[in-house]
Amino acid sequence: MGQLKKVGVLTSGGDAPGMNAALRAVVRAAIYNKLKVVGISQGYHGMILDRMEDYTSRSVSNIIHQGGTILKSARSEGFRTKEGRKKAYENLKKRGIDCLVVIGGDGTFTGARIFAQEYNIPIVGVPGTIDNDLFGTDYTIGYDTALNTVVEAVDKIRDTASAHSRLFFIEVMGRDAGFLALRSGIASGAEAILVPEIDTDFKQLYTFLEKGFNKDKNSSIVLVAEGEKISGGAIQVAEKVQKEYPDYDTRVTILGHIQRGGSPSAFDRVTASRMGVSAIEALIDDQKSIMIGLVNKEITHVPFNQALKNKKKLNPALVELTEVLSI
Ligand code: F6P
Repeated sequence: MGQLKKVGVLTSGGDAPGMNAALRAVVRAAIYNKLKVVGISQGYHGMILDRMEDYTSRSVSNIIHQGGTILKSARSEGFRTKEGRKKAYENLKKRGIDCLVVIGGDGTFTGARIFAQEYNIPIVGVPGTIDNDLFGTDYTIGYDTALNTVVEAVDKIRDTASAHSRLFFIEVMGRDAGFLALRSGIASGAEAILVPEIDTDFKQLYTFLEKGFNKDKNSSIVLVAEGEKISGGAIQVAEKVQKEYPDYDTRVTILGHIQRGGSPSAFDRVTASRMGVSAIEALIDDQKSIMIGLVNKEITHVPFNQALKNKKKLNPALVELTEVLSI
């Protein structure tokens, strides 16, 4: 073990179910290993404003099941500036914080990478985002819960779609990534899934919808990731389809932030607990500028550079699956 004494922990970017479970694991693993631990409120924004508090193991009691983040989160503009980061560093120094665990997504790790380079401070990242779009890990914390939230919602919408013989376009989150749309689409039996990674082929979609309706399918669900590139989301896709098929009874539902909330699934809680503890172990092991990952059910360490430089790809086998299953 190096001479690290005090670790700061924060959550940043879009909140994700399981962030609290990760925070709990970080705090308790730090204390277990005789490190002091400070909770930094509102991510990098709070670091700049010195919103920090000494934590004990009791500070994180009864939070493993809670969605959101008790630390609060923010997307900090100030931390993008040199002056903001300088202020943040001075606040850490003043409190004797000599290393950090940051829980968040790619924006969080981009900030962490720059900060670590500028001030030579050991930082370990824990991936928390419902988008599951980080290279180097099979799962990010929050993804599994969000998947289940989407599936539950789509199941309910299907009841209405079927009762009224309607065509529903359901928009799910994912500005740049279709992982949530693809997997929840398969799990909910969507007839078509539109994702940012694949340009929507409207001709193919029309043929597909026609085939379905000609075959006595009296309802259909099309899942659209919010980052769908050709039209720009479910509303626009629905408008286009409606123009082509004025007789179809179409509706649009945008699931929105319901996908980010709620009690984390057991899978997310366990993943968060494993990753949080591993983050502290990595720091004690003198690791820096890495993200904790989970690959083939095993914990891995991924350099920030790799996690940020590479783009995680959709599993082509899952993409193919949707074609087979929706005939
Ligand atoms: O990154 C998580 C995410 O929920 C994306 O899926 C979505 O595009 C974005 O955050 C929405 O961010 P905000 O809540 O800041 O509008």
